[in-house]
Amino acid sequence: MKIAFVGKGGSGKTTLSSLFIRHLATTGAPVVAVDADINQHLGAALGLDEARAAALPAMGERLQLIKDWLRGSNPRIASAQTMIKTTPPGEGSRLLRVCENNPVYDACARPVELDGGTVRLMVTGPFTDSDLGVACYHSKTGAVELFLNHLVDGPGEYVVVDMTAGSDSFASGMFTRFDITFLVAEPTRKGVSVYRQYKEYARDFGVILKVVGNKVQSQDDLDFLRAEVGDDLLVTVGHSDWVRAMEKGRPPRFELLEDANHLALCRLRTAVDATYELRDWERYTRQMVHFHLKNARSWGNERTGTDLAAQIDPGFVLGERVTAPSEGDARLTPTA
Ligand SMILES: Nc1ncnc2c1ncn2[C@@H]1O[C@H](COP(=O)(O)OP(=O)(O)OP(=O)(O)O)[C@@H](O)[C@H]1O
Ligand SMILES: [Mg+2]
Repeated sequence: MKIAFVGKGGSGKTTLSSLFIRHLATTGAPVVAVDADINQHLGAALGLDEARAAALPAMGERLQLIKDWLRGSNPRIASAQTMIKTTPPGEGSRLLRVCENNPVYDACARPVELDGGTVRLMVTGPFTDSDLGVACYHSKTGAVELFLNHLVDGPGEYVVVDMTAGSDSFASGMFTRFDITFLVAEPTRKGVSVYRQYKEYARDFGVILKVVGNKVQSQDDLDFLRAEVGDDLLVTVGHSDWVRAMEKGRPPRFELLEDANHLALCRLRTAVDATYELRDWERYTRQMVHFHLKNARSWGNERTGTDLAAQIDPGFVLGERVTAPSEGDARLTPTA
């Protein structure tokens, strides 16, 4: 299950991502945590000290390795140089799973021990000016998009991405890569305006968007969010002394998190799990092709000097089950 936390800067994306990751880990669920935010703080929020957080390998610096691995023997992708962030998998591509060892995890993921379980953490690496606001070849989130587009995740397995609600994710298609998107909003006009913008982009792509109210202190806060986002409001979280203690570098045991916040995390998970039956791998694959063509036309063809539309394998559908080989090859098909 692929989950994004998005929202305005400072709204609490990293905090809520990290709490949700901790919640999943205590239940023993396999989790890959991904820090794709402009401000790279997920490692710290998961309890890594500064030195360990700084030593995390940056996915953005390992794009060549990632591309070479994912490309596999796909004859439509001549080289890693012609593989852009939206290049979709096809026959011969290597797919990734949540629970496995592979060279991408070896190079880019590090284990983080939490109360009750260990998760894998991957980080894009710090953003530079050239990464921001452009549908650009070099963008750091491109590594995450490639990862998600080659991932075959099943129920009970979780990939949690802490992410910016920036124009890069809209241009590339990144925002369509999730089973559910949690938009973290404070009860303020700015918080809600990011929600409106996201909703507008998401409307035509079947993106499931739910609002998680954060730093909600009063009935008035709650009424404001209800009035502004209506039924999209899934749950609200108040000020947490547990979070504050963690920020002071003295994380209490996770079971000591406030009951109301534990309950909020359970509701997030229920919402995530409920999306499983709505999954549509064909649509998921179609959307990656759509955004690949868009990126190819707007900058990719020119940048790589090739016709990137030729990378699309028309018969390929990403999915969870490999059916019995037909015509000599095993093809992945959707379960639905
Ligand atoms: N529910 C909460 N209770 C207490 N403190 C909170 C809560 N939510 C967020 N905070 C605090 O608010 C600050 C901003 O939160 P956080 O870093 O999670 O936001 P963000 O959206 O990831 O920000 P950025 O855009 O900078 O990455 C942090 O100091 C965090 O500890
Ligand atoms: Mg953050």
